[in-house]
Amino acid sequence: MSSGRVAGHGLERGRRVEILIDGEPAEAYEGESVAAAVMAGRGLGLRQTGDADPRGYYCGMGVCFDCVMVVDGVPQTRTCVTWVRDGMTVEHQVGSGTAADAEAAHGH
Ligand code: FES
Repeated sequence: MSSGRVAGHGLERGRRVEILIDGEPAEAYEGESVAAAVMAGRGLGLRQTGDADPRGYYCGMGVCFDCVMVVDGVPQTRTCVTWVRDGMTVEHQVGSGTAADAEAAHGH
């Protein structure tokens, strides 16, 4: 189990699944939000604004849009209200999540 998850809380986790975060395999558990799985495995940063300011989990209930990432190729997905699924792909989002914004941020 990843060190980013609470242990010994007495609750059972869902079935272990595997997701890809920026192309790297990561563990997740059914019933977890995508945001929770990403933060457990990779830290708090979920996206960057177009000015490269980091953003992450804030409201946790689908209102603020600070947690948006590209999920299964769909930009602007609110990861705090999206549940993991085996084989799901998750990418950190830059700006609006378009290819042009990603290229601008990475200089190519
Ligand atoms: S953390 Fe606010 S919409 Fe997800």
